[in-house]
Amino acid sequence: MEKKTCIRTKVLDRLNYLTNEQYIEASKTIETQLINSSYWKDAKVIAITVSKKTEVDTYGIIQKGWDQKKTMVVPRADFKTKKMTFYKLTSFSQLEEQRYGLMEPKQTLCQKISNHDIHLVVVPGVAFDINGNRLGYGGGFYDRFLATSHAKTIALAFDCQIINEVPMESHDKKLDQIISENGFLL
Ligand SMILES: Nc1ncnc2c1ncn2[C@@H]1O[C@H](COP(=O)(O)OP(=O)(O)OP(=O)(O)O)[C@@H](O)[C@H]1O
Ligand SMILES: [Mg+2]
Repeated sequence: MEKKTCIRTKVLDRLNYLTNEQYIEASKTIETQLINSSYWKDAKVIAITVSKKTEVDTYGIIQKGWDQKKTMVVPRADFKTKKMTFYKLTSFSQLEEQRYGLMEPKQTLCQKISNHDIHLVVVPGVAFDINGNRLGYGGGFYDRFLATSHAKTIALAFDCQIINEVPMESHDKKLDQIISENGFLL
């Protein structure tokens, strides 16, 4: 098996062993650290994905953003062009389930936001290392997007997603920061 595929399988398997209590508690700790960070405080427009079952919970984070009058934008992925378009989300009812169980904004209900207007990107991923390297789900969506973005990048990860070394390729960009339940990694 290819090295990246092997790591994805291993880490995704580890995530399945988190208990519901561990998931809730670690997510809450990570959320608090993010919201108290200068990355968050300095950003008015924040891009974020809506979390799936084994990802750090982002529902509370999105709600905090709304409470603080920030513009929270979430992507829709086009699997033909492998590109993402971001939309301003103002209610969870504007989401619909798309392929791979992704919760994405309904285009008819949400305002499109230009990539250049985003200040902070909360980047999803499967595995990370302490050099700020990231391994995603394999689509290259975030790599393509970040290649042309000047936004700050931060990832939220459970400690079991931090591995010794993520194999990097030339198209991969390092993250500015990673937050786990044990704090800031970089
Ligand atoms: N900037 C880019 N331009 C063109 N192709 C790219 C770019 N970035 C990545 N790709 C391609 O996308 C594919 C997937 O890349 P990779 O394995 O790094 O995905 P990933 O980091 O797991 O996914 P994601 O970025 O969505 O989290 C690779 O074949 C890669 O060559
Ligand atoms: Mg990549």
